[in-house]
Amino acid sequence: MKLSEQLLNSLIEITSNSAIACYPYIGKNEKILADKAATDVMRHQLNKLDINGKVVIGEGELDEAPMLYIGEILGNGKGPQIDIAVDPVEGTNFVAKNQPGSMSVLAVAEKGNLLNAPETYMNKIVSGSHIPKGSIDIDFTVKENINIYSEITKKKNSEITVCILERPRHKEIINELNKLNVNIKFLTDGDVSGALLVSDKKFNVDIFMGIGGGPEGVIAAAALNTLNCNFQGRFLFKTAEDINRAQTMGIKDLNKKYEINEIVKGESIFCATGITSGDLMNGVFKQKDKYITETIITHNKSELKLIKKEVSLT
Ligand code: FBP
Repeated sequence: MKLSEQLLNSLIEITSNSAIACYPYIGKNEKILADKAATDVMRHQLNKLDINGKVVIGEGELDEAPMLYIGEILGNGKGPQIDIAVDPVEGTNFVAKNQPGSMSVLAVAEKGNLLNAPETYMNKIVSGSHIPKGSIDIDFTVKENINIYSEITKKKNSEITVCILERPRHKEIINELNKLNVNIKFLTDGDVSGALLVSDKKFNVDIFMGIGGGPEGVIAAAALNTLNCNFQGRFLFKTAEDINRAQTMGIKDLNKKYEINEIVKGESIFCATGITSGDLMNGVFKQKDKYITETIITHNKSELKLIKKEVSLT
């Protein structure tokens, strides 16, 4: 194992601390300040680690947040070479409005093993490990995919739930799902969590589909790969600038359908600490003299593991 338990523990500590840094901003309608607080802590603490890290997935122009930028070198340079994907606050609106589902996220893999994703949208389709690889496909129609899912699982359409971001761009998919009598779990934001809901039956989500952030796609894929789930993605480019940026990052085929093993290779670690409570974990809880955090992790395990941490108020 190249990514050590020690590194895993350090990353849990970092996402816990960056989530705690957001705590004062929950419900304050200040998403940029919340993002900055989490980003500053993440950068500061990653820089203390014995790693030779490079940010390959950072925050950027999509929401003009204060960023840990793509290409930023992190760590004290003394340890293994790793690719780092950061999302200090996934669900900035949730923090600002004190709504469920925000989290602070880090994913790492060995150098060269995480796709360098441009700041653009990605069309995604995700299903759990009980679906054979190659069955569901982003190029099939919604109806075809639902039929395939129903055939494999022996579930009626009325027993199937699809999770999707509630956006005007998904009108056609949503109409089709309604026609098929499939249940929909609408997300107002936060499609990393949405994608992870397929990983365990207890979340009652069968398929995640639709367009969200490309960086969020890579981050979700890092966890889903370890969990042996299915993920396909395709970037979408709106402007010539988007295309130019992608080409500079080495993307040659702009219409490429990415399979999960082309997004994440080998071993990876994924850590996400709840800021506000959501489906996957509870948010930061403040007691008299400490904070309690919950972090979900994946690292060479076939299930999401939940880690509770107590951090003294100092
Ligand atoms: P932020 O936390 O950076 O605001 O992102 C939230 C999010 O909902 C992501 O989970 C998702 O991938 C993306 O925004 C969708 O973008 P848009 O709001 O433009 O549809």
